[in-house]
Amino acid sequence: GFIAGIAAAGRREPPAGDAPTATVDVLFGTQTGSAELLAGELVAGARARGLGGSATELDAVTPERLATMSHLLIVTSTYGEGEMPDNAGLFWEALQADGAPRLEGLRYAVLGLGDRGYDDFCQAARLVDTRLEQLGATRLHDRVDCDVDFEEPAAAWTAAVLDRLVAETGTTTGAGAAAAGDPSAAAPPPARTRSPWNKRNPYPSRLVVNRLLSSPDSAKEIRHYEFDLGDSGITYAAGDSLAVTPVNDDALVGAFLEHLGASGDEDIDGRPLAGVLRTGREIRTPSKDLVADLVERAPTSELAAIVAHGDRSDLDSWLRGRDVLDLLRDAGSAAPGLEELLPLLRPLQARQYSISSSPLAHPDRVHLTVASVRYGTPDRRYEGVASTYLADRVGGDERDAVVGVHLQPNASFRVPADDSTPMIMIGPGTGIAPFRGFLHERAARGACGRNWLFFGDQHRRTDFVYEDELTELGECGVLTRLDLAFSRDQAEKVYVQTRMRERSRELYGWLEDGAHVYVCGDASRMAKDVESALLGVIAGQRGRGDDDAAQYLADLRRAKRYVRDVY
Ligand code: 2AM
Repeated sequence: GFIAGIAAAGRREPPAGDAPTATVDVLFGTQTGSAELLAGELVAGARARGLGGSATELDAVTPERLATMSHLLIVTSTYGEGEMPDNAGLFWEALQADGAPRLEGLRYAVLGLGDRGYDDFCQAARLVDTRLEQLGATRLHDRVDCDVDFEEPAAAWTAAVLDRLVAETGTTTGAGAAAAGDPSAAAPPPARTRSPWNKRNPYPSRLVVNRLLSSPDSAKEIRHYEFDLGDSGITYAAGDSLAVTPVNDDALVGAFLEHLGASGDEDIDGRPLAGVLRTGREIRTPSKDLVADLVERAPTSELAAIVAHGDRSDLDSWLRGRDVLDLLRDAGSAAPGLEELLPLLRPLQARQYSISSSPLAHPDRVHLTVASVRYGTPDRRYEGVASTYLADRVGGDERDAVVGVHLQPNASFRVPADDSTPMIMIGPGTGIAPFRGFLHERAARGACGRNWLFFGDQHRRTDFVYEDELTELGECGVLTRLDLAFSRDQAEKVYVQTRMRERSRELYGWLEDGAHVYVCGDASRMAKDVESALLGVIAGQRGRGDDDAAQYLADLRRAKRYVRDVY
């Protein structure tokens, strides 16, 4: 099982057509699938130039394998606070080790994907790039770190790196020679995605269902949405995510215009200001550039004091209850005017949500399960951009119910190919979303494998979403076990990991039976605590200590039997 799978994953596919004169190895580390997509495009670009190559995830190779390669391209994102993505952690551990082999014969280039909104921007790419150099490898091309709008810089890097490869390896087969001889053909923009719909060109989907799942008196507002895929041609898999292109709240746009003393008709590169603020800029969450700018303009402000004397978490918690408008108002006359402000606002981003349906049960619709973000102070109400757009501002009598969406595939978050493999799913809160899809998928397939769900939220009475469905899935034998953790129904907090620990013996038994373990939901605390619980369960049941448990979990991860969709 394990070993054969890894070997197969690392093996090069035989190149199609003429035997290429040189090969390039492409490795990726991915959390949401973008790096994998880019890696696929690199391979396609290499083949178009007469080079052989294949794309493999970082965790499928060892540093010893790197030592046998001649040309290596790495695309990796960074996960959470500067961590390696889930399928690159083992690789990184091995690469860091004292005994890692020298790589003098290796020529390489690294592309980083990240988000400038985080402190350790593209840290994973930076670390790998530096470590390869330390081990004696030499760069084919400088690393490029891409922000959330990665398409253009990634395409430019790809084209430059492939040209460099062609120049170095002297590829002379038909396609390669033709491409190298013609400068315009040398850098064809790679096919961006497999679907014509992407973040620049989202599919206008009709929102056909918007239903409250939690009770009206819950502390949370969790909603069920259904999007009509119409003739989009979008085909999805349970486990994928849907990206929603949001529109800012008109009331917030209005408050902005008022603050700026603007009418909204001002021309911004051919578009009226109001429209730019509505659909083009992040006007809720302050960017790092805006914070830095305000500190410079008002060095004696509270914000400046926190930036100067606090750490990142002090700043984060100070910012949590404030939005761009608050900061501008705080800055008073020191605040930047319209022209200086606009470049400090980031482009409005699409928001990704884990799909909660299965195409086998709902081929024409995508379901989402989304918590509406709303909180307030005595002075202000704050609303999440995309979650309240869906909840409040799509459809109704005056608006059409059309939302721009595109698919964000997540090839590593899938129901096991083998219908008899047991599944353990851990998804408190809206983390239940993909598991509803998984259960529908297994029911539709008539899969006989056992399914165990850990779910929880604050209160059973108000927050047990999809209760009827889960009961039905239990009665028909699809949902084998359901363990619930309602954290605030008793004096002591009970979390999903509490239930996991209580069921240690059975849980380990399922693992030994080959179960796949899935975790979905909050990354900052829940996913970490669930991982320690899992390690604790394994250590307790095996009785061979913590290192052995860590090894066991690493093996699960490597075999794709422990995967996470956390945010
Ligand atoms: P709490 O809000 O009562 O602390 C979904 O949000 C559920 O996850 C809630 O019941 C919430 O409990 C719980 N939760 C909060 N922190 C958690 C953690 N670190 N691990 C697991 N569950 C957590």
